[in-house]
Amino acid sequence: MDSHTINLSRFRNPDVVAEYEGKDGLRDCELFLYEKYICNGDDVLDLGVGAGRTTGFLAGKARRYIGADYSEEMIAASRKRFPEQEFLVLDGADMRMLSSTSFDVIVFSFNGLSYLYPDKQRLACVQECHRLLRAGGTFIFSLPNPSSIFIRPSRAGRTPLQTLEGVVRSIGANLFRMAQRLTMRPFWTGRGYALLHAHGGLNTYMAIPVRVLEEVGAFGFSEVATYPEDYPRRGSRFVSRWYYYVFRKTQD
Ligand SMILES: C[S@@+](CC[C@H](N)C(=O)[O-])C[C@H]1O[C@@H](n2cnc3c(N)ncnc32)[C@H](O)[C@@H]1O
Repeated sequence: MDSHTINLSRFRNPDVVAEYEGKDGLRDCELFLYEKYICNGDDVLDLGVGAGRTTGFLAGKARRYIGADYSEEMIAASRKRFPEQEFLVLDGADMRMLSSTSFDVIVFSFNGLSYLYPDKQRLACVQECHRLLRAGGTFIFSLPNPSSIFIRPSRAGRTPLQTLEGVVRSIGANLFRMAQRLTMRPFWTGRGYALLHAHGGLNTYMAIPVRVLEEVGAFGFSEVATYPEDYPRRGSRFVSRWYYYVFRKTQD
């Protein structure tokens, strides 16, 4: 099986779908971004919608809302949860069933763009998003940061023993993360695919912000803002696991 098919099979797996069905609510940074950059009454495409975690909030703001995903099983879960909303099974690299310039905002949340493989497919998706957006439209997405070699220690436990356990666990997790990242090409080159263990193994695109700006900027988008994943906490190059990007369509 090639990496595209492997990634798709992971997102069609019933256990993975069940995991996403259990997810609810927005992360702090998502809430901040969606409130700041999406206007009430916008036409919104929620790409890689999964089991509908973002649907309640985005559909509540939108004049027209469409949730889309290439996993039929994820879309079935979204439809079950929000029977009144519109959902489509489609691949983000080929969205010809949707008309050009028909959306004000496209959201590809929770690093969904990183699972399009290879480069050609991911770039085709960026191009398709550009085609679907109206002039001045907004593209919000996130991508993993290959430089993230440290994991923030979790909060100290209540007893000295729990605190000690937390410290030992954190050292172990950091050593593992460091070994994993330092042996990946994207850590050294700033961009590229790597096999990450989530959901049984996903070939995942990661890039540092400067590479993302180059790549997406080449399609007629201009950067509006970039935020670390844990915003409003202060992220850093070696800690932030992913970045959120906001781009505006500025050229045809
Ligand atoms: C990490 S999950 C996030 C799901 C959901 N957005 C959330 O935040 O809970 C990524 C989603 O992107 C979808 N996806 C990945 N590649 C895709 C593609 N080429 N076209 C459409 N959806 C895709 C997957 O099926 C999966 O549902």
